Amino acid sequence: MSNKTIFILGASRGLGLGLAKEFLARGWDVVASERSRSEDLHALECDALRIATADVTDPDSYADLGFGNGQLDVLFINAGISGAKHQSSEQATPDEVAHVMMTNAFGPVRAAKTLLPAIRDGGTLGFMTSLMGSIADSSGGYELYRSSKAALNMLAKGVAEQDAGPRGIATLALHPGWVQTDMGGPQAPLGVEESATGLADVLESASGKGFRYADYKGDDLPF
Ligand SMILES: NC(=O)c1ccc[n+]([C@@H]2O[C@H](COP(=O)([O-])OP(=O)(O)OC[C@H]3O[C@@H](n4cnc5c(N)ncnc54)[C@H](OP(=O)(O)O)[C@@H]3O)[C@@H](O)[C@H]2O)c1
Repeated sequence: MSNKTIFILGASRGLGLGLAKEFLARGWDVVASERSRSEDLHALECDALRIATADVTDPDSYADLGFGNGQLDVLFINAGISGAKHQSSEQATPDEVAHVMMTNAFGPVRAAKTLLPAIRDGGTLGFMTSLMGSIADSSGGYELYRSSKAALNMLAKGVAEQDAGPRGIATLALHPGWVQTDMGGPQAPLGVEESATGLADVLESASGKGFRYADYKGDDLPF
């Protein structure tokens, strides 16, 4: 029996890199993308790893990655940014709004729709979202990032209902916890390995055509 295969879009560092390591350790074949050369990703080089180049905001960059129909057990779109430092709806320029929305919401969902034929029927589609995208949980602030992840949650649910569900593909919008990465900062309580282990467990155990917004421990989150 051949190994299971995951494509992680955005695996140059942080959680995407941690997930690539975790799935390799679990015996999966991993296709992992970078935008520019990541020494940390290339340090993992082995037969089970293929490194691709992709930018989630550039459809041409991922349109022809050479996947056969149904080749992937899991497609996981990890790429994401915080957005402009001020994070303020009063200061945000049209370019700043477009950049964070394209990177965190519209880009990931467009990539998922483009790559959906590469996921096998009954496979799994995952998006890296955040608890900050929960409207129910929000205490305000961090407006650019929060609104982009709320938009991602909405768009991901749409993909689940219209595109993935009919093919028995489970769709997950996953919150990794607050994690020590360039984005999460050194004061975050969780290490990359702990979060990636939990995320991989949730991705590996997903089944059915439903949609879930859940965290790295597998607990459901409020929309
Ligand atoms: N860390 C946390 O506490 C936390 C909490 C909630 C959610 N998240 C989410 O988890 C995901 C990973 O975050 P992280 O903490 O690992 O952050 P990170 O260390 O800043 O890594 C971000 C990753 O996204 C990639 N990326 C950014 N823009 C991209 C684009 N246009 N196309 C392709 N790849 C792109 C980066 O690639 P480059 O190296 O090329 O820039 C890098 O691999 C994000 O979606 C983030 O929103 C993180």
